[in-house]
Formats: sequence, structure tokens, C-alpha cells
Amino acid sequence: MNSAFDSYFEKIYTDRWPAIRRALVEKNKQISRPNKFAELDSGLSQNYVMDPASQVVARALEVMPTDVVLDMCSAPGGKTLVLAEEMSFNFSNQWQLPSGELIANEMSEGRRARLMRVLNEHINREKRLFIHVKGLDGNQYGLRQPEVFDRVLADVPCSGERHLMENPSEMKLWSEKRTKNLSVRQYSLLSSAWLAVKVGGRIVYSTCSISPLENDSVVAKLLKKRKPQILRPAFLNELDFLEKTEHGYQVLPDRCGFGPMYFSVIEKT
Ligand SMILES: C[S@@+](CC[C@H](N)C(=O)[O-])C[C@H]1O[C@@H](n2cnc3c(N)ncnc32)[C@H](O)[C@@H]1O
Repeated sequence: MNSAFDSYFEKIYTDRWPAIRRALVEKNKQISRPNKFAELDSGLSQNYVMDPASQVVARALEVMPTDVVLDMCSAPGGKTLVLAEEMSFNFSNQWQLPSGELIANEMSEGRRARLMRVLNEHINREKRLFIHVKGLDGNQYGLRQPEVFDRVLADVPCSGERHLMENPSEMKLWSEKRTKNLSVRQYSLLSSAWLAVKVGGRIVYSTCSISPLENDSVVAKLLKKRKPQILRPAFLNELDFLEKTEHGYQVLPDRCGFGPMYFSVIEKT
């Protein structure tokens, strides 16, 4: 174990830390999400197992069939599947080929191959003509495609403390400096999302970290430099496992068995 890790999070979560810590090592509640495409595509796998909190993150983008959407860091692709469904099924649950586009971007070649496998297994070819897999560094979008996207999901790489707790060799490498360094990379990706989204468009910034440095602090930096509007979509009020933070929402596993997950819903004004 890494005592610096424990004392860092003890300071942040105080009395709650032992319960959060215990819940991080327990298996979290994942559910098999019935895949709406599977009803149409017999022979394809029916379900994709994912954390309910991850589904909420993708839904918070509130995509429309006509939108041009960027999923900036998309492998292995759980949230991409949710976005694809949201764009493809109307209110009567009927499939329609969206007129918009979904760019599923992933920089790592190996993880991009995994993303392709997930898409191939869950959505047949003609139903995913609107999904385009790309392999750019997410930082490039702001420069190369300014104000092109209606919606951007920036589900950025993070410390992933649950994963660290399962991997003692990686846990040994944890330090406060590492989470600080990651927050710099995360801010850079969020800034790229900011430049890439249209005025009036929406960004969802998310991580599976419990470190406030990688969460609200990254959004706070954007608030200081730009003038975004932080949104609180009405449908999120009904979800009692969401805990409000200063600039977004957190899901912690000690209370609900889901997560951890953090997200902030940001509008470009
Ligand atoms: C938290 S994971 C994304 C999970 C994914 N959204 C999902 O729901 O399955 C972050 C991903 O970002 C990728 N990544 C890291 N740096 C990146 C960058 N600069 N540009 C694009 N992708 C990046 C990682 O390879 C990793 O697959």
C-alpha cells in the first residue's frame, strides 16, 4: 500500500474515507445494459456491461440526431454506444439513421482496435454509418476544427484510483505530483474541447477519479480563463446517487455501489 495515497484522501474525505476506500476495493455494481441495437440486429451480442454512472455521463450530453458530436477519448467505447443510441432512437423508441455525425476518437492504436471491436459487436455496419473512428491526439481538435461540434464528450485519462487499488505495482507509483501532472493534461484536453465546440454547444467533462484536482479544479481553471456556463440539466435532479459538487456531480461507491465518476456539464456561451 501507499501511505501518501491514504493520507492525501483522508484529508479530502475525512470521516468518509474508510468507507470510500472499502467500496473502491469491492466489486462495483455494473449492470448489463440492454443494447437497443441488439433488438434490431439478431446475432449480435445483446448487452454491454457498464457502470450506471458512465451511462449518466453520456446521457448528460443530451445529443440530438442532427448533432455533430465528438467523443474525444472514446475507447473502449461504452459511452460511445450510449451516444450512438441516443442519436439513433426517437422518442417512440424507433430506430432512424441520424443526419448528424459521431466522431469516436481514440489516440492509442491498441485501444482503438478494442473500440472498433466493441462497435462491430454491438451495431451492425449500416446502422453505424454515422460513426467515424479517428485516431488523433484530442488536443488537436481545438486547433484543427474550431467551433465545428455541437457536443463534445471529454472523458479524459485520469488517476483511476479504483484501478490503482487493484494493482499494487501501479499504486506504488501514486503521488500527489502525479495527480497534479494529470490535471495539466486534462485541462489541455478540456481547452481543446472548448475551442472545438460551437458557441451554444455543450461539453461534458468527466473522469473516474476521486481527486478534486482532476475534477472541479480543472473546470474551475476553465471558468477563470473563459466564460462558460455550468449547466444542471433537470433530468439529473431525479438521480439520487449523484452528489453535487461546486461545478458538477460526483458518484462515490460507498453510498450507491456505482462509480467513482465525476462530470461537469458545460455550455459555451
Ligand atoms: C477514461 S478512458 C475513456 C473511456 C471511454 N470514454 C469509455 O467510456 O469507454 C480515456 C481514454 O483516453 C485515451 N487518451 C489518452 N490521451 C489521449 C489524447 N491526448 N487524445 C485522445 N485520447 C487520449 C486513452 O487511451 C483512453 O482510452
